[in-house]
Amino acid sequence: MEEASLSSSSSPRSPDGGPGGDRGQAFPKLQNDTFLRAAWGEATDYTPVWCMRQAGRYLKEFLDTRAGQDFFSTCRSPEACCELTLQPLRRFPLDAAIIFSDILVVPQALGLQVTMVPGKGPTFSAPLREEQDLDRLQTPVDVDQELGYVFQAITLTRQRLEGRVPLIGFSGAPWTLMSYMVEGGGSPTMAQAKRWLYQWPKASHRLLGLLTDVLVPYLVGQVAAGAQALQVFESHAGHLGPELFSEFALPYIRDVAKRVKAGLREAGLAPVPLIIFAKDGHYALEELAQSGYEVVGIDWKVDPALARERVGKSVTLQGNLDPCALYASEDRIGQLVERMLDAFGPQPHIANLGHGIYPDMDPAHVGAFVEAVHRHSRQLRRK
Ligand code: CP3
Repeated sequence: MEEASLSSSSSPRSPDGGPGGDRGQAFPKLQNDTFLRAAWGEATDYTPVWCMRQAGRYLKEFLDTRAGQDFFSTCRSPEACCELTLQPLRRFPLDAAIIFSDILVVPQALGLQVTMVPGKGPTFSAPLREEQDLDRLQTPVDVDQELGYVFQAITLTRQRLEGRVPLIGFSGAPWTLMSYMVEGGGSPTMAQAKRWLYQWPKASHRLLGLLTDVLVPYLVGQVAAGAQALQVFESHAGHLGPELFSEFALPYIRDVAKRVKAGLREAGLAPVPLIIFAKDGHYALEELAQSGYEVVGIDWKVDPALARERVGKSVTLQGNLDPCALYASEDRIGQLVERMLDAFGPQPHIANLGHGIYPDMDPAHVGAFVEAVHRHSRQLRRK
């Protein structure tokens, strides 16, 4: 059995991601540490692979489990989250699981009402329209009380994974969460949220700081509950550009990493690898590689070889097959994977899609992607 104590005696590169958590639970021993080794920059026998949105509507069993329940009720049910997380693992030999949840549980914890409207997406009943609306947010947040259901889902899932592969926890980054809270949902331009940045920079910084203050204990709590790696999603980086990004996104991305690392130390938990995925944030690749994360995720618009040149050798890269490549034939997917692996080169790499799987995709093609990564990466290592 893995250590279950509070001690931080295991090395930062402890293959199983460290002690089992501060709630006294012992977790089954990790069998496949390929993903964690690659995340820490170590050599692996093959390239590990997982997919963003690997739990999703493209799986019939996902639709069956979700049937009749609204999205955020599902998120609040540890049993349902655990089941949804495990479903793709039963079909494909993935090298990591990601806990089923959503980035928008954090705005909910701050007192905002969010629903998932079918066909429309996330919808806030009362978005933040002006500076004074910040007073409506319920701070400080007691994360154990407001988000304890996520911690319970993580602990249950870590148990039921039986050590097969590591479990990834996640959150949104401050700017992406702010953009949803101001827009009240998706938006092609994010003009309302950007209006805040230009018109009310001080209030924007206040909101971003306040979100950071929730995200830090939330992410540390996920590790305490059993998460073995953490991914931070800056999904709306593409709306900013270099200048706004360096003022309103990057400082908070950095702060999250620094404070989560300190928080893990203080809690006596071993470090876990941190992943930053700033979708369409190619303009800030160098900065992201220096922002305190072990892994930098890239979307499919970035050439992997160029990305490697720009970030140097200090980080592991993750990505980046165009999700729409899964519409291609299985043979073609194999060729595209081969090309992708070549372009990433010999440095540590975690294979993934450049963004999430879409609901109309064929599960067999997801399987073909995973299988091709394993097969071609093993072949490359024999060369
Ligand atoms: O498998 C996984 O990747 C883990 C689960 C996960 C979900 N959301 C489940 C989900 C993760 C990591 C997220 C993160 C998330 N949520 C992000 C960042 C990643 C990204 O896509 O850039 C964002 C922006 C959200 C907010 C959100 N939640 C959106 C925009 C939507 C889409 C709405 C729609 O109609 O498709 C969701 C809903 C959501 N979150 C679904 C899933 C599986 C689909 C809706 C459903 O199951 O009913």
